[in-house]
Amino acid sequence: MAQAFHHDFQRFMMEYQFAVDEMLTKVSILREEFLYLHKYNPIEHVSSRVKTPESIMRKVSKRNIAPSLPIIRENISDIAGVRITCSFVKDIYKVLNTLTSQSDLKVIQIKDYIKNPKSNGYKSVHAIIEIPVFLSDGPVNVVVEVQIRTIAQDFWASLEHKIFYKYEGDVPAHLADELAEAAAIATTLDMRMQRLHTEVHGHDADHDGASHTDFDNTAIDNLLSLARESSAEKRKSTGSES
Ligand code: GTP
Ligand code: MG
Repeated sequence: MAQAFHHDFQRFMMEYQFAVDEMLTKVSILREEFLYLHKYNPIEHVSSRVKTPESIMRKVSKRNIAPSLPIIRENISDIAGVRITCSFVKDIYKVLNTLTSQSDLKVIQIKDYIKNPKSNGYKSVHAIIEIPVFLSDGPVNVVVEVQIRTIAQDFWASLEHKIFYKYEGDVPAHLADELAEAAAIATTLDMRMQRLHTEVHGHDADHDGASHTDFDNTAIDNLLSLARESSAEKRKSTGSES
């Protein structure tokens, strides 16, 4: 029995790791494609983690959830986590929309703490997303929490997190006030940076039409003339005049 549970738990954890890997691939493709099409990278940084078994168990007992894998799967949505840091708020929604419109993903919930910040000043967009993972015995849908925030929001959140833990959730009023003020300053900074960026590059980040590639253009030109020759040949041999 214990051995079977160990086996199931290992598999359970593995599914979440694979889900993170799949999500990271998607984000990396988005990033590369965006860079290719627009010569502009909306994603500054990506990080990920799978909750440790200890941390899962802490949440299970805190939330009073039955310690069974299906119930944990259903009730804890942040076992797999991916955090995307963007330069500008605009980019957050761009990334969110592109990601959530992918047909193999199912959006379970979006929490927009930018439109509705938490009372302490926390801002970010959270998307709870189900992603299919293909294992040898078929696909399983795995839930991933994707957090998308600006660099300034991320900076604020990591400091607030440290302070929150240091005071075990009971942050002294003067620090809470300062944090709220710092959050407001971060928001102002985000707005100014975005305004500056727009002033320099225009509303569309696609500021100069030419997309850049790392390919050897001679090779592409050769390929093109080959293709032209071959279709000319084909026309000749079929006698088509169109
Ligand atoms: P948990 O807090 O994870 O139990 O879930 P929840 O239902 O409260 O979800 P929520 O989306 O509010 O928070 C999920 C995650 O977002 C947290 O685990 C943190 O990573 C982050 N987060 C939410 N609120 C705060 C906050 O006030 N400060 C910081 N630093 N991070 C936060
Ligand atoms: Mg919370």
